[in-house]
Parts: sequence; structure tokens; C-alpha cells
Amino acid sequence: MPKPIFVLNGPNLNLLGVREPHIYGTTTLDEVRDRTAARAQTLGFSIDFRQSNHEGVLIDWVQAARTDASALVINPAGLGHTSIALLDALKALTIPIVECHLSNPAARESFRRHTYVSLAATGQVTGFGAVSYELAVEAAARLAQGPSTAPSPSQGA
Ligand code: DQA
Repeated sequence: MPKPIFVLNGPNLNLLGVREPHIYGTTTLDEVRDRTAARAQTLGFSIDFRQSNHEGVLIDWVQAARTDASALVINPAGLGHTSIALLDALKALTIPIVECHLSNPAARESFRRHTYVSLAATGQVTGFGAVSYELAVEAAARLAQGPSTAPSPSQGA
């Protein structure tokens, strides 16, 4: 069995299901975890799914992913837009990193259009609600399996 895919969640995502449901939907974080774990299992991976409201805790978990994870999926929530310390931790990783958001930040307020995390991420999955996590873990699994199964970046028009 390969090392697990870490799936890390930032501040306020513990309130998923009740927090701004018109934006984030009514699926709870426990339901997201179960759906993501099921998807990962079909791809031959387990997941280690965690949430914290604390920047330093998330950074500790990113550091742990260096040695303990096959790949990392991260929904940094608001910290993605603000935290250089989180970016620095991500830049120390050599495993694939998939940034994941429920909403599509590019279509929201201007302060959400940039994330520091994107500077370290292999790619992003945004805007598909809870399904974003399933797609992100699929991308992470394929990247972790190596070049023959990894999604290829677009070469442009
Ligand atoms: C979010 C988008 C962020 O801008 C926001 O701060 C969140 C959730 C999302 O999953 O859509 O907390 O990361």
C-alpha cells in the first residue's frame, strides 16, 4: 500500500454544511471526507484527512507530509490568500500538491483571486463544490503514480 494522500483543510471548513451554504453547499466536511476516501480507494490510495483553524498546525501537517504522504491535497481556505509561511512550508515538499477549493475564487471578490498556495501547487481544482475534493484526489493519485498516469499540462493553443 502506498503512503496516504494527505488532505488538509484550513480555517472555517469545520463549519461546512452550515457556513454560507449558498456558496459552499450543504455537504458537511465529514461527508466530504467519506466521499474523498472512497474515491481514493478506487485508485489504490488511502487518505489522511484533517482540518485545523490554526496556521501553525497546518504548517506542521504540511511538514509531516514531506515524509509521510504520497501527495498532498490542500484547501487552505482563507489562509491561501494570506499566508507566506504556508507557502514556504509547501515549497519544501517534493511530492505533488493539488490546491482545492469548493467555490471558484476567481469568480468572487478580487482579494480571493490570488492564492500564495498556487505558487507551490502542481495544479488547482476549484468550483465544483464537494466534487472538487474527489477530482483533486484523483489528480493527486495519478501524479503520485508517475508520468504514465499523470494528467498532462495544457501546452496552450
Ligand atoms: C475556499 C475559498 C476561500 O476564498 C475561502 O476563504 C474559504 C473557502 C473554498 O473552498 O471555496 O474559506 O477555500
